[in-house]
Parts: sequence; C-alpha cells; structure tokens
Amino acid sequence: MPTYNSNDFFDVWKVRKQFPMLSKMMNGRPLVYLDSAATAQKPLPVIEAMDCFYREQYGTVHRAIYEIAAHSTEMYSQVRSKIQKLIHANFEEEIIFTRGTTEAINLVAHSFGLAFLKEGDEILISEMEHHANIVPWQFLCQRQKAILRVVPIFDNGVLDLESLKNMLSEKTKLLALTHISNVLGTCNPIKEIIALAHQAGAKVLIDGAQAIPHLSIDVIDLNVDFYAFSGHKFYGPTGIGVLYGKKELLEQLPPFMGGGDMIEEVSFEMSTFQPPPLKFEAGTPSICQVIGLGAAVDYFESVGRKKILNWEQKLLSYAEEKMAAISGIHFYGKASERGSLISFTIDGLHSLDLGTILGLKGIAIRTGHLCAMPLLKRLGVKSLARASFAFYNTQEEIDLFIKATKEASILLKPEMSY
Ligand SMILES: Cc1ncc(COP(=O)(O)O)c(C=O)c1O
Repeated sequence: MPTYNSNDFFDVWKVRKQFPMLSKMMNGRPLVYLDSAATAQKPLPVIEAMDCFYREQYGTVHRAIYEIAAHSTEMYSQVRSKIQKLIHANFEEEIIFTRGTTEAINLVAHSFGLAFLKEGDEILISEMEHHANIVPWQFLCQRQKAILRVVPIFDNGVLDLESLKNMLSEKTKLLALTHISNVLGTCNPIKEIIALAHQAGAKVLIDGAQAIPHLSIDVIDLNVDFYAFSGHKFYGPTGIGVLYGKKELLEQLPPFMGGGDMIEEVSFEMSTFQPPPLKFEAGTPSICQVIGLGAAVDYFESVGRKKILNWEQKLLSYAEEKMAAISGIHFYGKASERGSLISFTIDGLHSLDLGTILGLKGIAIRTGHLCAMPLLKRLGVKSLARASFAFYNTQEEIDLFIKATKEASILLKPEMSY
C-alpha cells in the first residue's frame, strides 16, 4: 500500500455534501453507511451526468448517423479513453466495457479458455478469492478438463508466496488473483506475483474490484495481462465494469457473446468479427452507465486519490484501535498492507444478529459469507461482520458504529457490560 503525505488537508464534510444518500435516514436514524466495499454511494456529478444524459442527450451508440447518436457515441468513446488514462493502458482498444467484475472474469474464463487451455492445464487462484473469481474457473475447468489449484494463505490473511512459487509450473496457463481481498483487506504484492507467474509462462488476471477505489493502477508498470473492476464500487453506477486486456492477447481471444455491434460481416453460414474492444461488446451497451462511470472518474480525480487513500487509512487505523476495546472481538486479516475494511466476529454474538440490530440503529454493515464461502471455511467461521470505509466516512460514524456494537453485545449477551 503506498504511503502518501498525511499533511494533505481533507474536508470530509464538504465531500459528504456531494453524496445525497449520506444525509438520508434508515429506520428513523441518520444513515451510517459502512458497506462501501459492497457498493459505494454515488456523488452528485455521477447522478447529474446520468440524469442529463437521459433527459437531454440520449441516443444510441455506433449504429446511427443522426446527431444525437453521433454525440452519444462521442461521449461513450471519451469514457473509454478516460479509463485508459486512469489505469495507464497503452491503447484505448485494451479497455472493454462489461457489466462488472463478474462479467469481466467470465469473459476471460470463456475466451482465454477456448484459445489457450487444453486438458490437464492448470489455473491457479488463491484461498482469498471472491466467488466471482472462483466459479467461472470451475466452469472452465469442468468444460475443458483443466485443473483448478488453490494457493493457500497464512492464518494472518497473507498469501503464501512460497507455495505460490512451488505451484507455478509449465502447466499453469493462468493465475487469477484478487488485488485486495474483500474479506481480509489483504493487499497482495501483485507486481512481484505477476513477474513470478510470467517467469513460469503463465498469464495473470487480477480482480481489481476492491482495489480500484483506493489504489492507483498502472497496468503497464504491473505488466498485468488482464485487470477487471466494477463501476459501482468506484462511485459510478451499477451495470458497468471494465476488463483491461493486453492488446496482443485480446486479438487472439475469440468473442465472448455474439450479437450486434461485435460483428464485421454476418451471413447465415458464418460471421466475422470486429477487432477488440468491440469484438467483446455484443449488443447495445450500457450507454448511460458508461457516461456515469466517466463522471465518477472525473469526480474521483477532482478529490484526489492521495487524499482519499490517506483519509481511508486514517479511518482504518482509528477503527481498528477503537474496536479492539470491544470484548470478545476477533479480527480476520492482519496483513501489514490492507484496504479500508475490517472483518470481525464477537464471541457469543451471531454476525447476522449484530447486522440486524445495527441496521435498526441506522448503521449499514455487511454480514454473512461475504461471497467468499471457501475463505470463511479456511478461517473456520460460518459468518462474519464487515465494516468498510470510504473517503466520505467520518470518525464520528465509526464511534457510533462501535457504540452501537457494544450496545448490541449487551442486548444479546446480558452478562456483558462495558
Ligand atoms: C474482490 C471482489 N471481486 C469481485 C467482485 C464482484 O463484483 P461485481 O459483483 O461488481 O461483479 C466483488 C464484489 O463484491 C469483490 O469484492
């Protein structure tokens, strides 16, 4: 996790005014939103850009020659170039719009699998993956009789790099790994890992769903083959995500879905396809969501990634320190470099009960298996509670969350007192 100058002034109250949802009530209490790792709230510039597009600019893209369609196409293409700059890709053609991280990973599993995988080949994932980076590879391995291998983690939530090195071989065709774990917060040293995988001849897909709202991503510096993320965790709308792929690789992959927009010529006998990215974008795309994503990038950059990361890391340290005083608490994920989320259990308190009580007090946290059932099994728990922090959260909100958690403990475990 890079460290930035912590003297940068950050006005969280000013920022909060940009997020209408943050002044709403839930169950009659002011909303304390601590679930941004699931999905982030939306700032006014995103809401307004989408509203304006539907009210005043709406038209289809690519297909029509009239003015509003040409303008839509122009706006849509500008966002592709914004994303290219955001992640420092070489070419616009390397940016594919998908519905989200899940679809991006499924795209690679389908198309990379068809192009490069044969019986007995291996795909590596890790024990800390989200279901979105497990299930598509299971489908692929079942279809093509390939083998899915799982790199272990240590009890502190750090990836076991020695095991990873030992598991990489000439059979490994692809390593698919999360950048930041949505449960443990672990920030994996992906640059080093990508280099190791490349030495073994494997390609690498990084699931960047949890990293994009926090870290600066430079796909060239990382030398990553595929990088996937979702718009809705990055303050943009749902229904839009991005797959970055190296141009020379994308050119070798067959399409994922067939339909309009992705073709060059169609006859009843056969079809030919557009070059990337259109080859992978069948059908009328999520035009307004792309516009919203573009506005999210602009907004995020106007606040400043350094300030954002700084503030979030401050919130993380503050929360960790204060939460340690909760009796019977256990933290999951103790890597030194972590994203701004905390997963925990409290002895004798089911996380779902805690989540329900906090919800009644206006506090939104995530509870359950956090879309990572195999990881929870590895950690020896059935259910977790997770508080995740974005740059619009405040220390006061963390205080409210901790106070309410202590109250819930007393309510559900009457022997408890503080
Ligand atoms: C690490 C990780 N990967 C993948 C996903 C899936 O993202 P989406 O549901 O937006 O496709 C998530 C969502 O929570 C995630 O946290």
